[in-house]
Amino acid sequence: MSKHIGILTAGGDSPGLNAAIRGVGKAFLDHGDINLIGFKDGFRGLVENRSFRLEKENLSGILTAGGTILGTSRDKPHRMLIGGKYMDMTDVIVENYHSNHLDGLICLGGGGTQKNALRLKQKGLNIITLPKTIDNDVAFTDTTFGFDTALGIATDAIDRLHSTAHSHHRIIVVEIMGHRAGWLALGAGIAGGADVILIPEIPYDIHHVAEAINDRARKGKNFSIVAVAEGALDTKEAKVYHKLLQQKLKPKDKKEKKKAKLNIAEFEKKHLNHTYELSAKLEKLTGLESRVTILGHLQRGGTPSAVDRILGTRLGSACLELVNQNQYGVMVASINDQAVPVELEKVAGNKKLIPMDHPWLNSARLVGTNLGDN
Ligand code: F6P
Repeated sequence: MSKHIGILTAGGDSPGLNAAIRGVGKAFLDHGDINLIGFKDGFRGLVENRSFRLEKENLSGILTAGGTILGTSRDKPHRMLIGGKYMDMTDVIVENYHSNHLDGLICLGGGGTQKNALRLKQKGLNIITLPKTIDNDVAFTDTTFGFDTALGIATDAIDRLHSTAHSHHRIIVVEIMGHRAGWLALGAGIAGGADVILIPEIPYDIHHVAEAINDRARKGKNFSIVAVAEGALDTKEAKVYHKLLQQKLKPKDKKEKKKAKLNIAEFEKKHLNHTYELSAKLEKLTGLESRVTILGHLQRGGTPSAVDRILGTRLGSACLELVNQNQYGVMVASINDQAVPVELEKVAGNKKLIPMDHPWLNSARLVGTNLGDN
């Protein structure tokens, strides 16, 4: 009897999603007796039962397209805004899963999606996830699709910023996405030859950054490129933020957790101006003019790189074997170029930050890049 498998994309979009959808779909339709039902706009589409059957014509010509043909949203099953109120829609999802006669559901997403998927697994649904995000911060996979494309875009931006920084003898502070991880900023900073790279994993001291820029000026290089991750923090901010995170993760009681959540939201809102503040402080401390470039969603748009197309295709098509073997409750990770199923319990809630002994950090220091800590 043929199987029915649902598929959705959740969280921020990222290049390579369509390659992965195509990988799943082509493998299922060409090599399995499997019907593939696409749900629109993430978990919301599953709640609202907005779906369509994915046929070969839907999959054709999408390999090179950015975004996701399914649409996406940041909606969480257990906390969805419905009619102006947050509601737990998990039971509706379970109901719709069964009313669509699904044998399984494939969720393509980042860290948040892995957590949501685990919740659905715990409700008895057969779930497979694929790791996507430009942030590269999903645990237990070497990489995520979207990262390589974003890395290329951010690197290209730094390359272009070099000539204008050089011509005007300016500092250019370029803000790079990555949420609370520094993979994208570190990778693009190294590839683009940034003079300073600031990442969340290494709290920085503004005086060290200014000194590195002044030192360059003394050597006749009166321009500098500072690649700053959107989540970078100076040492003082890092102390406050990590204390709040601890209070949220290990609260004394419910009240403390609620308060910590509110304080984190407030902290993050204030932090949105961080790159502008950093630039202004550097102007003061160095006497050089400074300009800010926020790369923003440019990093998520457009054609996926060859690497992301291959990764999406590999991980997507690997779902066929898992479905054939009724192996669910896992994320298909990429480990040493192999598609490896990893239990969702291991992945969910685990963020992959840059370890302090990562070779990229060592290489950056060896070529004289300042990381804000000395
Ligand atoms: O997770 C991907 C990401 O692009 C992060 O790098 C960034 O912090 C966030 O999404 C932006 O989210 P949104 O698209 O909802 O503004």
